[in-house]
Amino acid sequence: MKTVAVWLAIAVALAGCAKAPRLPAAESPPTPTASSQSGPVVDATPGAPPTPTPSSPSPGGSVAPDPAPTAAKPPEDTRSGAGLDVPYQVNGIIVVSPKHPISKKYVPELAKSGGLTPEAKKALDKMTKAAKADGITVKIRSSYRSYAEQAELLKRKIVEYGDEAKARRYNAEAGKSEHQTGLAVDLWDGRTWGDAIRNTKLGKWLWKHSREYGFILRYPPGKEKITGYIYEAWHFRYIGADSRKFKPNDKMTLEEYLGIA
Ligand code: DAL
Ligand code: ZN
Repeated sequence: MKTVAVWLAIAVALAGCAKAPRLPAAESPPTPTASSQSGPVVDATPGAPPTPTPSSPSPGGSVAPDPAPTAAKPPEDTRSGAGLDVPYQVNGIIVVSPKHPISKKYVPELAKSGGLTPEAKKALDKMTKAAKADGITVKIRSSYRSYAEQAELLKRKIVEYGDEAKARRYNAEAGKSEHQTGLAVDLWDGRTWGDAIRNTKLGKWLWKHSREYGFILRYPPGKEKITGYIYEAWHFRYIGADSRKFKPNDKMTLEEYLGIA
């Protein structure tokens, strides 16, 4: 009798096992169920009416439509004190100018040679190669300058010109020169320097083509009131892909482009 009871118990247990649900294989994705979805159920059926949400205006409802998109206003430059250790930027583009100075503590990361940031140096190398293919020599006359070097340069130029006002039209005060960012470079052909560059093959080529390599003519003619500096046919500024928004021989300034003129 005892043996029969044991056999009966085994038979009942086996029957239960047969009915137990099979476990899903480890790699099988879980089958979604209505209760397992965390987000709202989206009806993707073509032509199905959109599911109303609290923020979507209902026909004839009182929810105001979104305002027309407007260009984002550049942030105000409110830096002061230690804030000047970091340059002012608009849309990721550094601006250093009389209105947007930097402190002597700001020192950019530079490439091993050339006095430019690694990205700007790479772009300059590419531009130099392209110019060479067109029979034009591009040489660096001046690139990175430290705060102290910029201060020294202006001092020297004031003496050299014997005219402080004139020296300041061409040379920035320390803290106000984008040469301190490693993003600006003065270029020449190794022979002609100064205002005459504007009429050289190099000057013309650069103003027309530099935008194709991430550079812009930073101080175009007739824009001294905006940039703070007179036309400099040799001074190019690396801004990256945004340079494509400038046209060949464009007189648009960086300030105008960024909406901070
Ligand atoms: N020549 C430009 C303005 C500079 O000194 O930074
Ligand atoms: Zn320069």
